[in-house]
Amino acid sequence: MCGIVGIVGRRSVSQRLLEALKRLEYRGYDSAGLATISEGTLVRCRAQGKLVNLEMRMREQPLNGIIGIGHTRWATHGAPTERNAHPHMVDGIAVVHNGIIENFAELKAALEETGANFETDTDSEVVAHLLAKYRREGMNSREAMYEMLKRLRGAFCLAILLQDDPSTIMAARNGPPLAIGRGDGEMFIGSDPITLAPFTNEVTYLIDGDWAIVGNTDVSIFDARGNAVTRPRCTSTASADRVTKGHYSHFMEKEIHEQPDVIGRALARYVDSSSDLVAPLSTGIDFAKVASLMISACGTAYLAGLVGKYWFERYARLPVEIDVASEFRYREIPLSPHAAALFISQSGETADTLASLRYCKGHGLKVGAVVNTSESTIAREADTIFPILAGPEIGVASTKAFTCQLTVLAALALAAGKARGTLTADQERQLVKRLIDMPSIVREVLQNIQSQIQLLSRELSESPHVLFIGRGTSFPLAMEGALKLKEISYIHAEGYAAGELKHGPIALVDKNVPVIIIAPYDQVFEKTVSNMQEVAARGGQIILITDERGAASSKLETMHTIVLPHVDEIVAPIIFALPLQLIAYHVAVFKGTDIDQPRNLAKSVTVE
Ligand code: AGP
Repeated sequence: MCGIVGIVGRRSVSQRLLEALKRLEYRGYDSAGLATISEGTLVRCRAQGKLVNLEMRMREQPLNGIIGIGHTRWATHGAPTERNAHPHMVDGIAVVHNGIIENFAELKAALEETGANFETDTDSEVVAHLLAKYRREGMNSREAMYEMLKRLRGAFCLAILLQDDPSTIMAARNGPPLAIGRGDGEMFIGSDPITLAPFTNEVTYLIDGDWAIVGNTDVSIFDARGNAVTRPRCTSTASADRVTKGHYSHFMEKEIHEQPDVIGRALARYVDSSSDLVAPLSTGIDFAKVASLMISACGTAYLAGLVGKYWFERYARLPVEIDVASEFRYREIPLSPHAAALFISQSGETADTLASLRYCKGHGLKVGAVVNTSESTIAREADTIFPILAGPEIGVASTKAFTCQLTVLAALALAAGKARGTLTADQERQLVKRLIDMPSIVREVLQNIQSQIQLLSRELSESPHVLFIGRGTSFPLAMEGALKLKEISYIHAEGYAAGELKHGPIALVDKNVPVIIIAPYDQVFEKTVSNMQEVAARGGQIILITDERGAASSKLETMHTIVLPHVDEIVAPIIFALPLQLIAYHVAVFKGTDIDQPRNLAKSVTVE
C-alpha cells in the first residue's frame, strides 16, 4: 500500500517529509519520492528501492521550499523503477497517488490523442495530464481539480502541488484514507494519523468523494458535487514516538514476543478477572436477538474469523456464514435483517473488507468491527467496534494481531453464549478462567519451544513445499501456518483440513514434502492420528504439533514433535498459533528474506 504525506509549511519541509515517509515504511513499498516548490519552481527527487536511496539522492540534490509532498510507492501498474516512482510531474503539476485508477487506460489513450506525452507505465500519471489539460483550457486549479476528479473511476487518494499556486496543496480521497492535520501556522496531509503524529494530533479525516484545498492555516473541503462541506476535527491518539525493534532483529520477532502482554491487555477489556465472567458488552449488536452472524475479512484476519466461527457455533449456537471479503462483496449474498455482521481487520483500511461492511450496512445489518486501529475507516463506519489493543503491528506478517483477534473473538463468543442462554454461569466461569490463564501459558510456550523450532526450521528452509493439516479449529490454523510460511519465506505451503488429505493432497506426500500436523488432544485427535498414519505410510516427513496427552498417546515416528501444554479448546488455537509463527519466522531467517517487508506485500491492502 502506498503512503502519502504533504506539508504546507512555514519552514523547510524536505527533511520532515522524508521523516514522515519513514513512518510509512511499515506499509511496504518499492520506491519513493518528494516534490517541493523552491523559489517558484517545482522540483522533484525520486529513487527506486528503500528510503535510504532517496535520502542519498537528496544529499546530492537538496530540495528547498516550505511546501511539498512525498510518496512511498507499492507498485500496482508499472515496474518499481525510479521512472515510475511518484511524484509524477507534468507542466508544473506534481501528483502522488495511492490506489488504482481503473479507467486509466481509456483516459491515457484519449490524452495521448491530444498530444500528451506519458513518461511512465503507471495509472497515476493520468491525473497530472488531466489537470494540465484543464489548466491549459483556462480553468483555475479548483475548477481543474473538480473536472479531473469527475473523470476518475476506482480508488484514489491524491496530493497535488501546482507550481503556479505555491501556497496550497490539493488533496482528494476516494477509498484509501487521507487525514489533514492542523499545526501552528502549518497544515499537514497524511495517509494515516501515525504519519502526522510528529506534527500534530488534531486531524480531520476526508470521507470518500471529498477533495480539499489545503492552505497553511486552514483547509477548504468539498464533496463530490463540489459543495463546500465541513468534516469533524478529531484528536488522534497515534504516538509521535517511532515504534522501534528494541533488542529484536525484526519487528515480527518483537511482535511475536509481545503477545503475552498484549493478549492480557485485550482480555482485560472483555473479561472480568474478579468474577471470571465476561465483561458486559456496550455493543450495538444484541446477540440474544441475532438469528445468524456474517463474518468477513481477508488473509490472516479471515482465518481468525474462521476460528471464531467454530466458537460462535459451539458456545453460542449461533449459525455463522463466513467468506473472504473479496468474494463476499460481490456474491450479493441474501442477507436476513435478523443477521448481524462482524468484520475483522488489523489495519481497518482493507478495501475488500470495507466494501463488505458497506454492503451489509446497506442491507440494514448491525455491523461490528474487530480492529487494531480505532481511528481507521472500518472503525469509523462500523456500528460498534471491538478493539483488539495489540498496539502498532509493523511487521507485514500478522502475529500479535492474529492472537489478539482470536482472544477478542473467544470473549465475544462467550458473551454471545451468555446472552443467548446457551452457556450456564458455571460454564462461563470455567471458560473465562481458561482465557485468563492463557497469557502466562503463551509466555511459557514462547520461552520453551524457541530452540527446538530453530533446529527444525533449518531443515524446513531447504524444502520447496510444505503441507499443514489440522481438524476443527486447527484447520484454520493450518491455513494460517501455511500463510505465515509462504508470505515471509517464499516457500510454497498449503493448509488443508486433515480429513481432506485423502481427497487429493495426499498425492503430494513423499519423503521430500514435510507435513506439519496440528493436533491438540481434543475430540478429533484420534481422527488426525489416522491422517498421520496415512502420511507416514507414504514416507512423509511428519512434524507433529501436539500437547502432552497427544504426545503420550501417539506412537508414530516423526521428524519432530513439538509438545505444548494441554489446554482447553477455547484457548488451543491461540497457543498452537505460536509454533506456527516461530516456524515461519526462523525459516525466513535461514532463507535471508526481508521478514518485516516481504517482497510484493503491503501491510494493508487499500485497493482491490
Ligand atoms: C497477514 O500475515 C497478512 N499480512 C495479510 O493476510 C493480512 O492479514 C490481510 O491483508 C488483512 O489485513 P487487515 O487485517 O489489515 O485487514
